[in-house]
Amino acid sequence: MRTHVLTGATSGIGAALARALAERGDRLVLLARGDEAAAALTADFSQAQVLVADLADPGTLNGLGRQIDGPVDSLLHVAGVVELSPVSRLRLHDWEEQLAVNLTSPAVLTRELLPHLRASRGIAVFVNSSAGLSASAGWSSYAASKFGLRALADALRAEESEHGVRVTTVYPSRTATPMQEKVHEQEGSAYDASRWLRAETVVSTVLHVLDLPADATIPEVTVRPAPARA
Ligand SMILES: NC(=O)c1ccc[n+]([C@@H]2O[C@H](COP(=O)([O-])OP(=O)(O)OC[C@H]3O[C@@H](n4cnc5c(N)ncnc54)[C@H](OP(=O)(O)O)[C@@H]3O)[C@@H](O)[C@H]2O)c1
Repeated sequence: MRTHVLTGATSGIGAALARALAERGDRLVLLARGDEAAAALTADFSQAQVLVADLADPGTLNGLGRQIDGPVDSLLHVAGVVELSPVSRLRLHDWEEQLAVNLTSPAVLTRELLPHLRASRGIAVFVNSSAGLSASAGWSSYAASKFGLRALADALRAEESEHGVRVTTVYPSRTATPMQEKVHEQEGSAYDASRWLRAETVVSTVLHVLDLPADATIPEVTVRPAPARA
């Protein structure tokens, strides 16, 4: 039985990924932002170990690795937050929260879990974004966090190859989740889920990466919606 440590399992892509892995009978360690989220995850995933970890407060993650027993086959960084704003109206709290949740906490969590990942020659997966490859107007803070996440993954890949740990960054474009609904509200546009990738489609990409034979790795993969039918 494989063991996966996963952030973001309460919503969107992370919830779909946790469901898919649980259905396969894999062991899950789910990180929840607080007691309420932890109770909801325990109700939904009765076999899972659920730990409280507020990713907006990276200092609280120190020592988290000691709460997890045994080798870990994959560390799945899925949680994320977004707040759109032009730099002219940037709020420090929003900037700091996105950097903390989307970048600093994945770095600290990775450090905490590396001994477990090395023990199983496991895989770290970073769910990034097309905004981690190019930054549009209004997206400075989110894109900065995701550009940084790419750097974290690239450096980690170079460092950990000698330990057999594989590192993959997944770059989905817009995906139909609560985050995307919020983005539409902030952009002032009507939300139509059918225009965007399904969470399950992004999940199938992550599962493909997890299920690769041991002789292969996919360092980066981008996922885009298929062209609309004429
Ligand atoms: N949706 C898109 O269009 C899209 C496109 C490209 C990339 N992505 C990326 O895909 C990932 C998943 O996004 P999604 O669309 O599934 O978003 P979502 O539905 O909004 O879910 C976000 C998840 O992150 C968790 N989270 C947020 N802040 C947290 C904190 N302080 N501590 C612990 N957990 C926290 C949320 O937990 P709570 O339920 O407790 O809030 C939730 O489980 C993110 O990294 C996002 O940047 C999304």
